[in-house]
Amino acid sequence: MYKVYSNASWKGIIPLLFLIISISTANAQSITIPVETKDNALVLQVSPEKYLNTVYFGKRLSDKNEYNATAKAFRLDGNTEGYNSAYTTAGSRNLLEPAIAVTHADGNQSLDLKYVSHLVTRINDDVSLLSIRLKDSVYDFEVTLNYQTYFNEDVTEQWSVITHHEKHDVTLRKYASANLYLQAGSYWLKHFHGDWAQEMRPEEEQLDHGIKTLDSKLGSRADLFEPPVFMVSLNKPSGEDDGEVLYGNMEWSGNYRMDFEVDPSNNLRLIAGINNYASAYVLKPGVEFTTPKFVYTLSNKGKGEASRNLQSWARKYKIVDGEGPRLTLLNNWESTFFDFDEHKLADILKDTKTLGVDLFLLDDGWFGNKYSRNGDHQGLGDWQENKAKLPDNIAFLTKAASGDGVKFGIWVEPEMVNPKSELYEKHPDWVVKQPQRPEYYMRNQLVLDLSNPKVQDFVFNVVDNLFVKNPDLAYIKWDCNSVIYNAHSAYEKEQSNFYTDYVFGLYKVLDRLRAKYPKVPMMLCSGGGGRVDYGALKYFTEYWPSDNTEPLERIFIQWEYSYFYPALASSNHVTNWGKEPIKFRVDVAMMGKLGFDIVVGKLKPDELEFCQDAVKTYKEFSEAIWHGDQYRLQDPMENDVASIMYVDTTKTNAIMFNYLVNNRYAAGSKLPIKLKGLNPDKNYAISEVNLFPGTQSSITNAIYSGKFLMTVGINPDVKDGRTSVLIGVKEQK
Ligand code: GLA
Repeated sequence: MYKVYSNASWKGIIPLLFLIISISTANAQSITIPVETKDNALVLQVSPEKYLNTVYFGKRLSDKNEYNATAKAFRLDGNTEGYNSAYTTAGSRNLLEPAIAVTHADGNQSLDLKYVSHLVTRINDDVSLLSIRLKDSVYDFEVTLNYQTYFNEDVTEQWSVITHHEKHDVTLRKYASANLYLQAGSYWLKHFHGDWAQEMRPEEEQLDHGIKTLDSKLGSRADLFEPPVFMVSLNKPSGEDDGEVLYGNMEWSGNYRMDFEVDPSNNLRLIAGINNYASAYVLKPGVEFTTPKFVYTLSNKGKGEASRNLQSWARKYKIVDGEGPRLTLLNNWESTFFDFDEHKLADILKDTKTLGVDLFLLDDGWFGNKYSRNGDHQGLGDWQENKAKLPDNIAFLTKAASGDGVKFGIWVEPEMVNPKSELYEKHPDWVVKQPQRPEYYMRNQLVLDLSNPKVQDFVFNVVDNLFVKNPDLAYIKWDCNSVIYNAHSAYEKEQSNFYTDYVFGLYKVLDRLRAKYPKVPMMLCSGGGGRVDYGALKYFTEYWPSDNTEPLERIFIQWEYSYFYPALASSNHVTNWGKEPIKFRVDVAMMGKLGFDIVVGKLKPDELEFCQDAVKTYKEFSEAIWHGDQYRLQDPMENDVASIMYVDTTKTNAIMFNYLVNNRYAAGSKLPIKLKGLNPDKNYAISEVNLFPGTQSSITNAIYSGKFLMTVGINPDVKDGRTSVLIGVKEQK
């Protein structure tokens, strides 16, 4: 071809032919890589210049060949080359917010990654891993992009592995996990903010041009102000059962950053990963840096389906023992605070049995001798039983528990230290603090330097020793009450690696613990919900949503968490916060993993009877609550009555929770509420459950078809005097 057209007389048409040649070459060579799940496809394409771009993200097509044409359908106006890069680099032709920015060993700041190869590994019938290798053509620097799909759940986890073989260290100035590209008329971002006792307050806004960033710089307890979850609706805010919506969760328990950029072509660029704030990461030659995972699901049937996708994925693949049972419990935090001894605890163990729950959880205050833990100002770090409170050690309690036929669990906060502690006196270099500046505390404590392997060993041993000495120990509540101030590590050579290595250090400890104790239930707590993300939940069976257990507040808090996390992971405890009657408090706690934190001896006889019956009712419906599908029926933000239901996977047993969330005159359920998720052809018996002793239900027991319940619905008759109503729905054969 070249020869033929090299004749000077053909000069005028040569450029045109070159164009044709390059297009046809491109077509012949063009590589289109669809990343498919049950309903969706993310389509990547290699350009003629070997750049990897996103050319489609939406509903799956039935003919795979048609994905080749999606690039043309994408809106990429004007000078937009590179906007849709699947992993945007900095310092070369791209001038947009990057997913990755580096300083090479020679000081050069450019990166230009091109496609090398890709590989699909089928892990099982449901799970596949696509790995795409990209390489810089000048520097010996490469990135592998990974897309792990969970076909039936419509969920994808994305992360990258970065490595180089340059002569010296390379600094990663930004190193995101994922870079997505979406196309719609408008974008509606729902995200959450909060503080202690105010977790998961939602806000929804239309994204306009420019960058909106959600991030954390708190180090540990990173989610206190802003959790790493969001949803983006396309074209209009999604409803519960309609609209196209993407849910995302950064699986990282430290500083994260998620950028949402509506670009000049009106497409949405989404970049999620570790926050690069003060965290340029120095990477040695030959070492692989694996970013944390970013998990997402796209639904075209609204928020409800997106939630159920993520919840079933989490139960199946992420949280510990997600398909197993959960322990109901009695906790002593709010009933004793630090004021207890072994006799008081022995009585509480008896109350645990009386209540009918599975386990007693001993909270903060059991340790420290030189600096007894009688308040939150000292003792953290000294994990030996306090001799005054527990002269016969934890062994006394585990023995008493098994005598009472219940299990025993304990609270720890092993990443932390009070300056008033023997640990601080012995190992001041294990503590995160600026050597030349005054210390600054949250809750009178400091954070241990988990980037240091010796500290990792210490933290591992704190928990391991508890199990070794007390083989009957059945549960851990792992707390984390302080953010990181004055970030400085006496161990790290590269200070800017610290924030990232802290979290890697935490995960190393948790990996070791899980290798030794794979299934033991552990609650993830962080002074409330300061650390709820799927990076951490990989190691835990449940999380503590908030220290705010006022039940009306909890309806809202638990509601918002439910968009992203399954109910069996939500530790809901009945406490004395608020003025609502015990029935309301218990009904609210039953929406997730039920626990109590009250003085059982102070309950009136009918209240105790109610609680005991409630524990039994809870067990009756636990299969639906723990492993079934969740359907939000009426949003507390928009209605007088909040309503939510859980249906077991066989659609034979369901429970509907209804609460009055407005105390204005005559507020209540005026209309029937339509149920969801039932089999329209089955018949179901409806009855009110969890009634307080001596009260009559205003709902008549009856049998309806699933069709009727989902088309017409039932009115739970929620009103003043009937502020919470639970309805059992059981298949009638
Ligand atoms: C945190 C937790 C509480 C309790 C206290 C103990 O605040 O969120 O549930 O365990 O610590 O100090």
